[in-house]
Amino acid sequence: MACPYFTLPTTRVANRTSVIRQGESRQNGFCPIQNEDDLTYHKYLQLDNILNAQTLRSTLDGQKPVHDEHLFIITHQAFELWFRQILYEIDSISRILSAEYLEERKSLCVISRLNRVIAILKLCCDQFGVLETMTPQDFLDFRDTLGVASGFQSYQFRLMEIRFGVIDDECDDVARERMLWRYDKTKKNFTELFDEEHHNNLLKLHERRLTYQAMQGALMIFFYRDEPRFHLPYQLLQSLMDLDRQFMKLRYNHTSMVQRMVGSKVGTGGSSGYLYLRSTCSDRYKIFLDLLNLSTYLVPRDRIPPLSSEMKKSLSIEGCFEIGPPRFLDERDPGYLTGSNPNVSIAKDTDDSVEMAVKERNGTLV
Ligand code: HEM
Repeated sequence: MACPYFTLPTTRVANRTSVIRQGESRQNGFCPIQNEDDLTYHKYLQLDNILNAQTLRSTLDGQKPVHDEHLFIITHQAFELWFRQILYEIDSISRILSAEYLEERKSLCVISRLNRVIAILKLCCDQFGVLETMTPQDFLDFRDTLGVASGFQSYQFRLMEIRFGVIDDECDDVARERMLWRYDKTKKNFTELFDEEHHNNLLKLHERRLTYQAMQGALMIFFYRDEPRFHLPYQLLQSLMDLDRQFMKLRYNHTSMVQRMVGSKVGTGGSSGYLYLRSTCSDRYKIFLDLLNLSTYLVPRDRIPPLSSEMKKSLSIEGCFEIGPPRFLDERDPGYLTGSNPNVSIAKDTDDSVEMAVKERNGTLV
């Protein structure tokens, strides 16, 4: 079907059928009556520039392309385009609002542009869903090729923050200390992954929820999820994490709503209200935090030790496989799993607000 917005000059309209035919052939890239200087869809949108801007870093050393890198680039580019539109709208709103007198009839225009920005932000939230069809393991296949490139360097995101008026958070000594503490903690977590006694201690301290065996089993499933036997267990783990995420979203949306409804007033149930709720949006309240943190330990596919033939056999026999710690075939020191990565951090919320929330829950603080 031809594009409903496609129009031809009326002089060329001989009859309805020929117009439709011309429209369809133009959309198929062929137009017998088109001049070279005519503005086309392709030229108008400068598609040559946009559609040739997806260079996969994974291919640069003559390597085979990593399939998911294409999605990664497209998603970021789509975000940046939407950021551009947001800035465009915000700048126009600022211009209207910075006039000496605000013309009343322009208020509606401000509101409708603001609503447009909100709609774009909602769309951006949904875009993460598309990117998440890429698994953490798939991401690892090209992550190294990104070097130091990070969304952190997004100029337009920073501009948005400035335009929105987000307060700049200076990195003071306390923040630096906290970051160093987190880094050391990550390093330690890698080394302690295979230490059962240590794991049990963490369980007692409520810093882990899965038992040592369950944690090792989950790790095994994460690493060897391509094995047919692990397809369903892997999906199950994904569903558990989705459940956690949706529950967190529910909490977060509720918290935002409460802030809007009652501000910082204390709650009718006796808690500090919004402040208490805000603290429940932290990691402390995630149900499957151990599973979420498993991605920390993933390594690139080519560094995953192959399964022993004994293990392969036991995986292929229905009904008699018991998930246990992985056994490695080759001599490679499983200790390489302990290599630390400064870019990852184990979530452990240290906010005072969390402590407060726990106390509030336990009734020691009202
Ligand atoms: C696999 C997907 C992604 C991962 C693993 C990821 C990871 C990260 C990490 C770890 C940071 C913290 C800064 C750093 O150390 O690099 C960050 C920041 C950021 N990322 Fe992403 N990101 C992903 C996708 C995206 C996408 C699609 C966008 C959209 C443009 C984005 C935009 C940003 C921005 C703007 C920041 C800075 C946030 C701030 O400073 O408040 N990221 N990202």
